[in-house]
Amino acid sequence: MKKVRKAVFPVAGLGTRFLPATKASPKEMLTVVDKPLIQYAVEEAVAAGVTELIFVTGRSKRAIEDHFDKAFELETELEKKGKTEMLELVRNILPKGVNCVYIRQAEALGLGHAVLCAKQVVGDDPFAVILADDLLDGQPPVLKQMADAYDYYRCSVLAVQEVPREDTKSYGIVAAKPVAERVEQISAMVEKPKPEEAPSNLAVVGRYILTPRIFHHLENGKPGAGGEIQLTDGIAALLSEEQVLAYRYDGTRYDCGSKLGYLQATAVFGQRHPEVGAAFSAYLKQLGQHHDQ
Ligand code: G1P
Repeated sequence: MKKVRKAVFPVAGLGTRFLPATKASPKEMLTVVDKPLIQYAVEEAVAAGVTELIFVTGRSKRAIEDHFDKAFELETELEKKGKTEMLELVRNILPKGVNCVYIRQAEALGLGHAVLCAKQVVGDDPFAVILADDLLDGQPPVLKQMADAYDYYRCSVLAVQEVPREDTKSYGIVAAKPVAERVEQISAMVEKPKPEEAPSNLAVVGRYILTPRIFHHLENGKPGAGGEIQLTDGIAALLSEEQVLAYRYDGTRYDCGSKLGYLQATAVFGQRHPEVGAAFSAYLKQLGQHHDQ
């Protein structure tokens, strides 16, 4: 029985919602306290048992490759100065036995197209797709919860959460019926429907475990919402052949593709940080009191 060992990180998006911050550096390198979003995503994948990280990159994404590469000059410098703690931080970004592959998506033709770019590397294995701008805070980490569900059900699993009706136009929305605690069987899936056309308010967030059969449907897919090759349309086609499950994950999602979600994540992770957490909490409290006056 195959386990989920590969994860695809589509990181070729332009990040226009964060301009000018994202003009020359990728949105996935935005930091929450002291770690870039992509590192949170990678740590979640590794915690779920993933050993092969597949980044689908585009222009201006060099910083991501550098982040996971050996920083030779920096390491030599830290070693010389005897800064062992920092040296460990820099060296242990990726645990041993975890490898990176970079694939270039020449044109941004949509999420489905980005995933299709990983086909050769994924081969005939089940794999995860992680959208790093959805920062998911869960214990166990959300992808681990989903990998456990995959091991049990042996079919594609999508992370879902309920959203307000008026927000359906920002998400892939599923129609599903419960089969077990947290688990529902999907019967339909639509990308970014208007509230009045949405089959429910159950939205897919940026975590997927997919069977390799998805590639067949992505290859035959036509441009959908926004003129893009949509992953949602590929999954909708997969539904005619295979069971696909929605998984109501246990955790909190921060939409770090939006300024408000990003600030909320910073507030929560900042207050929890071993070095600055206590002082930051005290500061926020003080700030709140000033506002109340
Ligand atoms: C993508 C997917 C959408 C999903 C969302 C989750 O949309 O196309 O189905 O619900 O991610 O964050 P995007 O946010 O890239 O427009």
